[in-house]
This record gives sequence, structure tokens and C-alpha cells, in this order.
Amino acid sequence: MKILAIETSCDDTCAAVVEGSEIRSNVISSQDEAHAKFGGIVPEIASRHHLELTVPVVELALDEAGVSIGEIDSVAVTAGPGLIGALLVGLSTAKAIAAPRRLPLVPVDHLQGHVAANFLAPEPLEPPFLCLVASGGHTMLAAVRDHAGHEVLGQTLDDAAGEAFDKVARLLGLGFPGGPALQRLAEDGDPEAFELPVAMARDPGLDFSFSGLKTALAYLCRDLGPEGVKERRADLAASFQAAAVGQLTAKLKRALKRGGWSAVALGGGVAANGPLREAVTTLCEEQGVRLKLVPLELCTDNAAMIGSAARFATPMPYPDYLSYDAFPSSRAPAAVR
Ligand code: KG4
Ligand code: ZN
Repeated sequence: MKILAIETSCDDTCAAVVEGSEIRSNVISSQDEAHAKFGGIVPEIASRHHLELTVPVVELALDEAGVSIGEIDSVAVTAGPGLIGALLVGLSTAKAIAAPRRLPLVPVDHLQGHVAANFLAPEPLEPPFLCLVASGGHTMLAAVRDHAGHEVLGQTLDDAAGEAFDKVARLLGLGFPGGPALQRLAEDGDPEAFELPVAMARDPGLDFSFSGLKTALAYLCRDLGPEGVKERRADLAASFQAAAVGQLTAKLKRALKRGGWSAVALGGGVAANGPLREAVTTLCEEQGVRLKLVPLELCTDNAAMIGSAARFATPMPYPDYLSYDAFPSSRAPAAVR
């Protein structure tokens, strides 16, 4: 089965060809530059770029895979959650490719895509496992008991982890997206320079919160003044990163302590964060559980993960999907399948 997958839920235009657990191609066209001058993603600009880029990105994905469109068995596409205009470009393109060829269409949940990045070669991870997904739009701990879906055990009550990285990076005068730049700046700073709250530490549940941490940083910056912030930028970045990583690992540890898990996986853009990867590695060693860390290009948004999820989802036959609509918010807060 050769699956052509398309992902346009946010600001990256992505297409991939997946065959079994093997990635035949995985093309990502980043729009970072187009949004950088605005300090964040502008939804309408994202949609317009997707409109221009989707077809060439799909052609490149087929080309790199050495596969013609006639050899494709089904078309997978992110149907939500995400920016509605951006999602609609991907979904319409997928329908336009699938319908004339009478191919089945597989609508995929974006978060299940991040989970399914772990099912890809080499060394696909078999369920059951505990998955921490932290991205620019979502933060959740999920129980993955089979390939077809996941159960949300906890999620952010306000900002996503990546959103907090991006907003704090902006406060520190870094570009967009802020996560990677903040990590680089933090390398020169002292993570203990400022005492910041590790939110939800005493909360017995598995939910997250990042807006208090972001606000604490904003107050610190206000008190330090522009000159003070300039002098202490690296310390501020390192202290913020330590608190954010501390919260993510504390909740993962709590979920592990509830027992029954022998493997852990990470997903989403923040899973590319070096100190988070190190902290989770140490935690898993301590707890004696296996850790799967997908390569960085499979942490951030990509279409190979959508193709991977599609392998285990129910395809919609032609013409049933012609009236199928994208969904901007999570459809099923408790369980996704
Ligand atoms: O999964 P993703 O590519 O897109 C969404 O689904 O949101 O995640 C993007 C997010 C951004 O907020 C970005 O700043 C963050 O992931 N990110 C990082 C790192 N690399 C990307 N955050 C912290 N450290 C990183 N190295
Ligand atoms: Zn994502």
C-alpha cells in the first residue's frame, strides 16, 4: 500500500509517500520566513502560501519517492485540528487528487499523526506506550494502547508548551519560531538564575498549564527593564526552559508512577528540545522503561506522520468524502480514533 499524505494544518506545507512503515519521501516547505516579521503565524498568510505550495510539494514528494500518481493506493490528509483555512487547502487538494482516480481518502487527526510518527521505520514502536505530545498548538499526555487511536490522559488548560516557548522568545527579542532560538540562547545561561514556578506541580492530575510561567517571565522582564533584560537574556531563557521542561517531565513521571507502562515516546515540535530529550532520557532510565525518540524532522509537523496514522485508520471510499469537512478544534477531547 502506497499512501500519499498531505499536511497543511499550520504553517508548514508538507507531503510524503509512505509504504508500510517505510518513508519513501517526506517534503516540508517551511513558511517561517513569511511569518517571522509578524512575530507569529498569520492564518490568512498561511492559507495563501499553502495554496501556492501544495501542488509543487506533492509533485516533489512523488518525485523523491520515485512513484507516479498512478501507483498511489490512497490519499491521507490532516483534517484537523488546526487553522481552518490552512486545513481546507490540504483537504481540497487531497480530494482533488483522490476523486478523479476514485482513490479512497483517509482523514487524519493531527495529534494522532504526532503519535503515529513513532510507528515509522526504523524501529517502529509497538503499542502500548505513553506518549507526550508538546507542540505549538497542543500539549497532551496520551495513552496509546493500539495503532488506531489514543486516549488523552491530560492536556494543557491554557497555552501549549511550544506557544509558551514562542511567546517568551518574543519577550527576549528572539525571532519566530522561538523554541529553537530560545534553546540556543539558554545554552549560555544559568537555569537556576531565576526561580520560576513549575506550574501544576502539586496538582494531582495530569493536566498542564504554561500561561502562569509565561506571565512570570513577563513580570521579570518588566522589573528588569530593557537594559536588564538584555544583560540577563541567557539566564532568563535558561530559567524558563528549565521550568517548562520541569513541568513536562514531572507530569510524565506522575503518569509513569501510576504504573503499567513499559515504553514512552515523545512527539510534537517541543520534543525537538535538547534539554527535554535529556531529562526524559534520565527519567526513563530511572524508571526502567524504554524510550523512543523520533528524529527531529519527525517531531515537528510533517506528512510522513499523517501517512503513518492513515495506515491504521478507516479509509473513506469515493464519493463519500466529497462532502467531508475539516475540523479546527479537537473533535473528541477524551479519545481520538
Ligand atoms: O509540532 P509543531 O511543528 O507544530 C505544531 O503542531 O504546533 O511544533 C512547533 C512548535 C513551536 O512552538 C516551536 O517553537 C516549538 O515547536 N519547537 C521547540 C523546539 N523546536 C521547535 N521548542 C523548544 N525547543 C526546540 N528545540
Ligand atoms: Zn503539530
